[in-house]
Amino acid sequence: MFSVKLSQEHLTLPLAELNAVLESCYPDKKLTLNISEETVKIAGLDDESVLRKRLGYAMEINGVEVEQGFSARYPRKRPFSYPTTLDPKLARAMVNLARPMKGAKGLGGKGARKEDVIFDPFCGTGGILLEAGLMGFKTIGIDIDEKMIPGCKQNLDFYEVKDYDISVEDFFKTKKRGTIVTDPPYGKSTSLPGKSVEEFYNLILEKLHEITNGISCIGSPSTINLGEMALNQGFKILEEHIIYVNKDLSKRILVLKK
Ligand SMILES: C[S@@+](CC[C@H](N)C(=O)[O-])C[C@H]1O[C@@H](n2cnc3c(N)ncnc32)[C@H](O)[C@@H]1O
Repeated sequence: MFSVKLSQEHLTLPLAELNAVLESCYPDKKLTLNISEETVKIAGLDDESVLRKRLGYAMEINGVEVEQGFSARYPRKRPFSYPTTLDPKLARAMVNLARPMKGAKGLGGKGARKEDVIFDPFCGTGGILLEAGLMGFKTIGIDIDEKMIPGCKQNLDFYEVKDYDISVEDFFKTKKRGTIVTDPPYGKSTSLPGKSVEEFYNLILEKLHEITNGISCIGSPSTINLGEMALNQGFKILEEHIIYVNKDLSKRILVLKK
């Protein structure tokens, strides 16, 4: 029996992250979850190392603290930071929510399927690529802003992420593919002047539908109804979370399936 103590931040997100990791890493295991307040007891699991490496919102596993080194990766500690840099725990949870697979049936072995590549088409300073890389995924990042790519590279190198491919490119023109985890720009910083935030996100969803490999995780300001827009574009909504960031911003995090 495994016992995972979850952080109480962001209400349902820590449990959703745990569920997503169990689903993607142990798709064939019959697991029983017993949830009491912040602790989840899991029966049917024989190895905790994957959970220990992957989870962002786990505080303890079997009574031993989980240390992902987030404090060393807070935006102000990075060589290159920007006001829009994503919090590392949230970035990691978003990668997990997209349910990427590593190797066969999650963990490797017989009947191996190719490992998923995490693609952030609005990569900025690389907050998502950094967490995905540290979890062991190959990553692809693009950003339209020329100053972001050298800064993003500086961050990935500083934290010794190896397997990445980043370049200056416009999302709306890209032919790259992958498991998309992304936090596009909000409001005035959108790259399409003259378009409202809703119009901009509608175009993002349209392009996402074209290039997604299946499940994607995308952030937006909570003020726009991205869920309804995604349904209209033919996506299924697997999950929706509202995350408080500060008094001026809450984010809507959606997990979408094509
Ligand atoms: C909210 S920031 C991403 C923050 C990132 N998750 C981080 O942790 O640094 C959005 C980024 O999207 C980029 N961007 C805006 N329009 C774009 C486009 N059409 N194609 C690619 N990148 C774009 C901006 O330059 C900005 O760096």
